[in-house]
Amino acid sequence: MKAIVQDVYGSPEVLRLTEIDMPAVGEGDVLVAVHAAAVHPGDAFILAGVPYVARPAFGLRRPRVGVRGYDLAGRVETVGSNVQRFQPGDEVFGWTTTGSLAEYVCVPQDNLAPKPANITVEQAGAVTVSAMPALHALRDAAKVQPGHKVLIVGASGGVGTFAVQIAKSLGAEVTGVCSTRNVDLVRSIGADHVIDYTREDFTRSGRSYDAILDNVEAQPLSAVRRALAPGGTLVLNSGRGSRWIGPLGRWAKAGVRSLFTRQTLRPLLQRENQQDLVVLKELIEDGAVTPVIDRTYPLSDAAQALAYVGAGHARGKAVVTV
Ligand SMILES: NC(=O)c1ccc[n+]([C@@H]2O[C@H](COP(=O)([O-])OP(=O)(O)OC[C@H]3O[C@@H](n4cnc5c(N)ncnc54)[C@H](OP(=O)(O)O)[C@@H]3O)[C@@H](O)[C@H]2O)c1
Repeated sequence: MKAIVQDVYGSPEVLRLTEIDMPAVGEGDVLVAVHAAAVHPGDAFILAGVPYVARPAFGLRRPRVGVRGYDLAGRVETVGSNVQRFQPGDEVFGWTTTGSLAEYVCVPQDNLAPKPANITVEQAGAVTVSAMPALHALRDAAKVQPGHKVLIVGASGGVGTFAVQIAKSLGAEVTGVCSTRNVDLVRSIGADHVIDYTREDFTRSGRSYDAILDNVEAQPLSAVRRALAPGGTLVLNSGRGSRWIGPLGRWAKAGVRSLFTRQTLRPLLQRENQQDLVVLKELIEDGAVTPVIDRTYPLSDAAQALAYVGAGHARGKAVVTV
């Protein structure tokens, strides 16, 4: 089968489209013909092998998993003997840790849910990696309640476009922070207020929020805290940072400061699970959440998709179609 493979760490040029063996299907596995696989900043980090502190997990000298891509949507080809929930022909979406930029992936059945009926396969392939952290940040970490004032920084990006919609579905009054070119987009997905960060600094506006989801972390922690209500929660969700330790320095600082304030300052540590995949499917089918697709690329241009997302200016999701 065809796949996008990386033998060494580096820039998107190290990616090559090549033939690899079909994966073996275990008893609890589902073989999926991939139709769409979104890429996200995390794929770009593994491509480059940064931060170095993550190399024991990524692979010390070269990536442990050669095929990039995490999100997926497609059709079930075959199932293992212990799989009851899916059968050949089912349309599914979910995630894989073995690389989705390929014609086929083999995943445990718990990594999948039926594709939401009302969206395209490209949209379905763009959900898990970005919508699930948005859900976990707002529902679980910040415990957003109806009437809460919620600020989403990086509201126009892969995570942010889901976060704005999920915060609205939780009944919050939502403010999105984005650049001028994305103001209309962020308003169109339901934000009650939009702050254009090229014109206004949200940390100096005098307004305060019960919850802030910061997907960018361009502002110092001390400044962001000025915009957080006493007793409010700041969720740090940028994977960007130094080449050596990534965001760990900021996370440590937030942990220490949290000990001396009523505000909760915490990083978001992601764990995908099937139960929340179903929650997302229902939010999508109810019309509360619609994935925003920025661009699509054929599999042969996956390196361009990675370069685009790695630059940090996506408007919603970049999706590779297979
Ligand atoms: N915890 C997890 O498991 C998890 C999962 C997925 C992603 N993440 C992390 O979450 C972060 C965001 O991911 P993403 O997929 O949303 O990234 P993305 O798609 O690259 O989006 C970034 C967005 O931020 C906007 N932006 C840039 N500078 C900004 C600023 N100063 N203020 C406000 N907005 C700004 C960009 O728009 P303009 O260029 O127009 O400004 C862009 O739309 C990444 O660092 C990623 O590593 C974490």
